[in-house]
Amino acid sequence: MLEDSFGRQFHYLRLSVTEACNFRCQYCLPDGYNGPSKSSFLSQSEIKTLVETFARLGTSKVRITGGEPSLRRDLPQIIETCASTRGIRKVAITTHGARLAENAERWARAGCSQVNVSIDSLDPAQFNAITGQNKLKEILAGVDKALEHGISVKINSVLLTGFSAGRLTRFLKWIKETPVSVRFIELMETGDHQRLFSQQHQSGQVLLEQIVNEGWLEIAREPYAGPAREFYHPDYAGKLGFILPYSKDFCKNCNRLRVSALGKLHLCLFSEAGIGMRGYLTDGDVEGLMCFLRQTLKNKRVSHLLEQHETGATTHFAMIGG
Ligand code: GTP
Ligand code: 5AD
Ligand code: SF4
Repeated sequence: MLEDSFGRQFHYLRLSVTEACNFRCQYCLPDGYNGPSKSSFLSQSEIKTLVETFARLGTSKVRITGGEPSLRRDLPQIIETCASTRGIRKVAITTHGARLAENAERWARAGCSQVNVSIDSLDPAQFNAITGQNKLKEILAGVDKALEHGISVKINSVLLTGFSAGRLTRFLKWIKETPVSVRFIELMETGDHQRLFSQQHQSGQVLLEQIVNEGWLEIAREPYAGPAREFYHPDYAGKLGFILPYSKDFCKNCNRLRVSALGKLHLCLFSEAGIGMRGYLTDGDVEGLMCFLRQTLKNKRVSHLLEQHETGATTHFAMIGG
């Protein structure tokens, strides 16, 4: 089992398979993607070595992230590689969802059981303004398709002050009958977007208190759960959640590691530049990589320094998968 010097264990790998994305989210890639070429991202065989190594060290869940993972044509094979690795029990994908309707069945067949879809607003005009794409209708159809194929769905909705009008009302209406977990996420400051952060960051605490006053009840955190605090209400099919990275003790239960599409290990979303380990992947050196990971984990810091506006080397999330 991978463990850091604070006794935290790591069963969960966030694996970015591309930095490219065709959305233009204001807080991420507002000018479009302009990074390394597709051919520089991890190959199938490098991914196989990586996942096998993590699985041998106790990883049981892989979340495939990007950029936008569906821009990789071989995504179904990547899912299969992860799902068929001994020890891996869950494969999930984080996506913008624009092509989820076409892909859901294939991804489910390949072994994906969970997708997290970004929907920052349920108002089409607001959605366009935030993401630069007029795709809300297709994304909602994709969510329905994923549910039809037995994939569980979580929604990521970043809180932006300029887009709060009608937000909660629209989401509540939708999840009355739709069994998805909508998580409101506090905008995190990244190197490229310090100005946007100062203009648009909104604390999630007020919204959380509002839903509690409206009768939503907190669900106890499961042992390997992620960073969201989740709530249910007997009158709703869906759930509400909050990811509040600026709250006290947010990093205390950190249980995830990240690998970028260029094969660098990131001990935190906001740690220093990633640590190169591509040589092990290219050589298929599972034993060497196991040794490297055990050693390197000792350097994981207790917490990020977001409160101090330290963004590390994270310029935007497309480079590391959020
Ligand atoms: P599951 O628990 O597997 O459902 O994943 P998740 O909710 O963590 O994954 P997702 O990719 O949907 O990310 C949702 C949001 O949480 C994104 O904005 C991530 O950047 C953020 N997030 C996820 N993990 C961490 C973390 O360890 N630290 C911080 N600060 N943010 C995180
Ligand atoms: N702060 C919070 N969430 C972000 N995401 C991307 N950039 C940020 C940021 N700066 C979210 C996306 C996506 C998930 C992977 O991360 O909306 O849902
Ligand atoms: Fe693309 Fe996700 Fe970044 Fe939006 S947040 S531009 S969908 S990678």
